[in-house]
Amino acid sequence: MSERDKYAVFGNPIKHSKSPAIHAAFAAQCGQAMEYRAVRVDEGDFTRAAGQFFDRGGAGLNVTLPFKEEAFRFADRLSQRARRAAAVNTLTRAADGKIDGDNTDGIGLVRDMVANLGWVIQGQRVLIIGAGGAVRGVLEPLLKEQPRQVLIVNRTAARARQLGEEFADLGSLEGGGYELAANRQADLIINASSAGLSGEMPPLSSELLTERSCCYDMIYGPEPTPFMRWAAQHAAWAVADGLGMLVEQAAQAFYLWRGMRPETRSVISHIRMAMEAA
Ligand code: ATR
Repeated sequence: MSERDKYAVFGNPIKHSKSPAIHAAFAAQCGQAMEYRAVRVDEGDFTRAAGQFFDRGGAGLNVTLPFKEEAFRFADRLSQRARRAAAVNTLTRAADGKIDGDNTDGIGLVRDMVANLGWVIQGQRVLIIGAGGAVRGVLEPLLKEQPRQVLIVNRTAARARQLGEEFADLGSLEGGGYELAANRQADLIINASSAGLSGEMPPLSSELLTERSCCYDMIYGPEPTPFMRWAAQHAAWAVADGLGMLVEQAAQAFYLWRGMRPETRSVISHIRMAMEAA
């Protein structure tokens, strides 16, 4: 009997990671013999731990906070989107023994919005809140959907401006402080700031919203985030959290590793029910 192929997610903290449950559901659904563990890696120890994982026959790694930039440097080869993101969340041992780095976060976000939620990105006015690694990770796949215009606003205006300049070749893009959003309307608002983690809401005017606006928070949890509550209170057309993005980025990693696309809707509902029951 052959041993099960070994996969893991490395992060810190990692205790509440849903990735093992998601990949177990994918593996069961697709009849794949694989093991997938969550491993807490000490800060500063990523390169050693990842090297050891692959030396011992590991087939693939997911990488979460705070190691995505280190994973980017660890990879022998990078996909185009990982290079643009300057961050890697999926490492794969290729047939030639080299380690390929990819970033599936942006595809996960786009697929959740377009395929699962039925939202439109093409031709729309998009507002992104935040300018950290989470935004950098998704900009290329998002811009490839050809929105009419993307504004990035952030507490620290310079970070948003920098992203705006860096990705300007991919579409109509502008970055700056929150004031950039004044007197504007957005069809799609994506919150990628971590303010909600501390219960805070970015200072946005409800005038941004039209009756067709869709609001997406990359954060997820058993309760709606402050951004989601704000959107609902001001009658946004649709509001969603980032659980679907999490499952979709995992599905893309699973596809890279196993060559099969799992069905994701049932997995999203299953993980949501488990999260709400906890
Ligand atoms: P990530 O990888 O999750 O993007 P990050 O690079 O630390 O993490 O970025 C966090 C983002 O949330 C940044 O845009 C940050 O704004 P700054 O660039 O001004 O730091 C934003 N953020 C975090 N806490 C915030 C708060 N209380 N209010 C507004 N923005 C906040």
